[in-house]
Amino acid sequence: MHDNRTLIRGDNLEEMRKFPDACVDLIATDPPFNSKRDYFVPYRDERGQEPDSLVKAFTDTWTWGDAAEETCRHLIVEEGGQIGATIQGLQQFLHETPMMAYLVMMAARIVEMHRILKDTGSLYLHCDPSASHYLKIVTDAVFGNKNFRNEIVWHYGKWTNVTNQFQRNHDIIFFYSKSENHTFNKLFNITKARDAVYERGWDTNRVDGKSQLIVYDREKAKTKIESGQYDNIVYRTEKKGAAFSDGWLDIPILNSQAKERAGYPTQKPIALYERIVKASSNKGDLVLDPFCGCGTTLMAAESQERQWIGIDLTYLATGAVKMQIEKFFPQLRDNVTITGTPEDETTALQLARTDSRGFEEWCVTHVLKFKSNAKKVADGGIDGTYTFPIGKVKGRQAYGKMVAQVKGGTYTLSQVRDFRTAMQNEKADLGVLVVTRKPTQGMLNEAQRSGIYQHPVYEMSIPCVQIYEIQDYFKGILPKMPYGVKQLL
Ligand SMILES: C[S@@+](CC[C@H](N)C(=O)[O-])C[C@H]1O[C@@H](n2cnc3c(N)ncnc32)[C@H](O)[C@@H]1O
Repeated sequence: MHDNRTLIRGDNLEEMRKFPDACVDLIATDPPFNSKRDYFVPYRDERGQEPDSLVKAFTDTWTWGDAAEETCRHLIVEEGGQIGATIQGLQQFLHETPMMAYLVMMAARIVEMHRILKDTGSLYLHCDPSASHYLKIVTDAVFGNKNFRNEIVWHYGKWTNVTNQFQRNHDIIFFYSKSENHTFNKLFNITKARDAVYERGWDTNRVDGKSQLIVYDREKAKTKIESGQYDNIVYRTEKKGAAFSDGWLDIPILNSQAKERAGYPTQKPIALYERIVKASSNKGDLVLDPFCGCGTTLMAAESQERQWIGIDLTYLATGAVKMQIEKFFPQLRDNVTITGTPEDETTALQLARTDSRGFEEWCVTHVLKFKSNAKKVADGGIDGTYTFPIGKVKGRQAYGKMVAQVKGGTYTLSQVRDFRTAMQNEKADLGVLVVTRKPTQGMLNEAQRSGIYQHPVYEMSIPCVQIYEIQDYFKGILPKMPYGVKQLL
């Protein structure tokens, strides 16, 4: 079983199959919704300027193919029971459509989520009206309708221009428990004003024309109690507002300036997941998010002193989680275990051979901790960017720019030259060419022709172009970075 604070880069079906039965207290997850969209990350640079780069984070478009066929067979033949029958029924109605491919993908994962939950555990499944009606049927089949607890409507303000229907302004979060015996902490909506009253320790009221002193804290209310000016004194120990219902209207979507914003598409507010974590787990419990994106559930779990494990398919997501940890819990930098990413030279080179895009994302987001820049047109092959502060110019903060390019296979002298040209086009001060093979002397000479960068504020000189062999990463050596680069996890 994984340690607390483990981040797994991989397919959650395969990964959850490795978990033992009944080991997780809470699964709070936000899978793709079958929105038929590709999600892109519009990276801003540190100046907040809208860049011209977009990187595809994940695809939420499903097609019926061999994988869906095989998963469907597995569910009907090997799982059987309610879920097998449900999938067969849905297939008669939906046929081999993208929706059916999506549901089959989700069903196989919901079966695993159910298996690994403890008897006291719960699942919160975030979706939207595009597929929630079908997902409920599938989740009912796995968890049993008697364990369906709530359909939470998370309503938010987001104004789009629709003319022939009402605005679509809510998501659905299904709450299922594994059994009747599930953990549930009733939560109360205590407003700021109410909280101030509790803090003060007393309140007053009139009931049937009589004055009433309500005491929450005897010590704080002492002078009021002794004043003798009230007809009745009522002592209360519980500080209650209204219990939360299944309509959550008080948590807005992230605004563009929110501190927690990671620039990850479909990122949800931490407050939303904190409510889920508080309601359905206790301190020290294990929370899993198998579709963790940039780690909203994981940040909520950490803030509420729960243990957590996150899984995501992409290096971009696990890279974003690392950034979020650094932002919110920098002290945990060295306490996060990351699996599914290269652990040594051999696995790094294997990734470079088998998945060049994955290798590129890993080098950029995990090794260099640059922002990924996967726009593949008219950028001269720049794969990542780091913008660093260089002090004030005419009273305004000025920035320098470092860019990266990854070459997972062979590369030539002319490609080193092209990189220098791309740097000039990008107006970059510094560049790092990440490679898997040793550069020739000619290549090193070509890189040196760009000269040395002198940091305008700090006493730092850095070669303008560095050729960085990825093998060095596993020896603890990183390219020389300008002051201001964030600590690496
Ligand atoms: C809707 S996003 C989650 C966003 C997240 N709640 C947040 O606040 O950042 C869904 C995530 O599921 C991931 N994903 C899709 N299929 C997956 C799979 N088979 N295994 C693991 N992760 C997957 C995608 O890469 C994406 O990051």
